[in-house]
Amino acid sequence: MYILGIESSCDETSVSIVKDGIEEIATIISTQIDIHKEYGGVIPEMASRLHIENITLVIDECLKKANMTMDDIDAVAVTYGPGLIGSLLVGVEAAKTLAFIHNKPLIKVHHIVGHIYANYLVKPFVFPLIALVVSGGHTDLIYMDKQYSFKRLGSTLDDAIGEAYDKVARVIGLPYPGGPLLDKIALEGKDTYQLPIPLDDDSYNFSFSGIKSAVINLVHNEKQKGNKINEQDLATTFQNRVVGIITKKTMKAVEEYNVKELIVAGGVAANSGLRNELATKCKEKGINLTIPPLKYCTDNATMIAAAGYYAYQQGLIGDMTLSAVSVEKL
Ligand code: KG4
Ligand code: ZN
Repeated sequence: MYILGIESSCDETSVSIVKDGIEEIATIISTQIDIHKEYGGVIPEMASRLHIENITLVIDECLKKANMTMDDIDAVAVTYGPGLIGSLLVGVEAAKTLAFIHNKPLIKVHHIVGHIYANYLVKPFVFPLIALVVSGGHTDLIYMDKQYSFKRLGSTLDDAIGEAYDKVARVIGLPYPGGPLLDKIALEGKDTYQLPIPLDDDSYNFSFSGIKSAVINLVHNEKQKGNKINEQDLATTFQNRVVGIITKKTMKAVEEYNVKELIVAGGVAANSGLRNELATKCKEKGINLTIPPLKYCTDNATMIAAAGYYAYQQGLIGDMTLSAVSVEKL
């Protein structure tokens, strides 16, 4: 079954064709990062307009790359939410139009489910498992005991981890999106600053606004005293604290739910500190760890087409009334 997936929830217009939920045939990602960079973050109205300009070109290019036409496609899958509403609408309308004109089933995919199923492109899931979702909009621990079943154990109570990375990066003067750059300089520093461990309790919830504010206050106080901040050391300290707590709570869930498999999803799965720490802990405990390659960690349509295959089996079929939703729990 060949599924054409469409992803447009934030600042990437992406189209991909995936066979049977596991084999990537062709993917195109058109990113808007260079344009939003000038403003220090994504400007939603601009993002929607750029998606409109790009969407048909990206669809055509993907089909061309795959050497296929819509006749070869069995279904169209699309991210319907959560995300920026104007951006999502462009993908949803494009998917509906393709499905209607070519008479193909329309499959609705939750963006976070897409991130989770990016791992299926690496290897099939072994249930039960824990999924750690770490992205610009989410920080969730999820238990899955079967295909397409998601039990949320905990979430962030305020900022998502990627959001905290981007804000802290901005305060220390790194351009948008700061997460990957902060990760890079964190490798060069030492853990010398006093920063709190975020929400170190027995729950599976997270909170990153406290440590974010602590970094902002620290930078302002040092500036007022005329002291220079050591950006590398501050980045290392921040990364150690957040990676430490995420790893601790994730491993606690793995043990409590007695699973043998941990999968990691979302843009922050690209973080070197988190990848290393989880790899070490999972090796110690004999847990299978799957983290997608970097290209499947950040937003892409390959994960949507992959998830679409399993959504189709669950009967998650949309019709011409399908609309986008900006906020949607798993
Ligand atoms: O999943 P994603 O592409 O978009 C959302 O669905 O939110 O995640 C984007 C987020 C951004 O906040 C970005 O700064 C962060 O992932 N990110 C990273 C790294 N690579 C991307 N954060 C920390 N370290 C990284 N290496
Ligand atoms: Zn995402």
